[in-house]
Amino acid sequence: QMMGQLLGMREKENQLAIYFQIEHCIIVSGDVDEQAKVQEELGRATMDSLKFLLPEGDNIIAVMGGTTMAEVANHMNESLSYHRELIFVPARGGLGESVNIQANAVSAQMAKKAGGANRVLYVPEQVSEETYKPLLQEPEIKKTLDLVERANCVLYGIGDAMHMAERRGMSQEALALIKEKAAVGEAFGEFYNQAGEVVYKIPRIGMQSKDLSHVSSVIAIAGGRSKANAIEAYMKKAPAQTWLITDEGAANQILKGI
Ligand code: F6P
Repeated sequence: QMMGQLLGMREKENQLAIYFQIEHCIIVSGDVDEQAKVQEELGRATMDSLKFLLPEGDNIIAVMGGTTMAEVANHMNESLSYHRELIFVPARGGLGESVNIQANAVSAQMAKKAGGANRVLYVPEQVSEETYKPLLQEPEIKKTLDLVERANCVLYGIGDAMHMAERRGMSQEALALIKEKAAVGEAFGEFYNQAGEVVYKIPRIGMQSKDLSHVSSVIAIAGGRSKANAIEAYMKKAPAQTWLITDEGAANQILKGI
């Protein structure tokens, strides 16, 4: 019976990868919405994927924030830095998350756990576009952003649009706009609709989804039935080299509809 279940899961992974036209999909058992422990499995699967994907030698890994990414960080260990030099760097700054799940914190924790170096990207949160644009010329910020541009691996989370807008305490105007444009999901500070089109962006520095095309290894980590729509919409536009690490809760919900 175990074998049957395992084959069933492999079958679903293939179905999803083909549907999204991405390189690979991994589905872990359970649903994070029901059991927080499933996030640990997502973390483990990510660690295994990185060991498989990252080449020997120098690696620059750009990471996003969120609770899933924080859990991924907790499951890293030093076996990842065996024959590898790792630099972890936040992919974006200032998305309005609480400190412990910001990309800066995730990147620092990964570096500590996996045995690598870490760069910070400190940018002020609540400033206008005119204020932060000149920051791009600051040497320390520039150094970090150069690394982000040269990243050979990106790890990111995906969230439900309204949930993320509220968690970040975005303005009433922004919330109204996100509703009006029928955003279903969010990743990289970009809100997108069911067709995967970006309908609203948080104007912040760092990586955007359009920058992923030249990154060798792109891993999206998101689980839970409540994220099914968001994951499905985003994966429609994901570059071909993408690996999706998700759970049964999200996967079954997506597969029901195809
Ligand atoms: O804010 C960073 C971020 O990665 C978002 O882009 C994404 O929607 C969210 O976090 C995912 O958070 P969580 O893993 O907590 O659901």
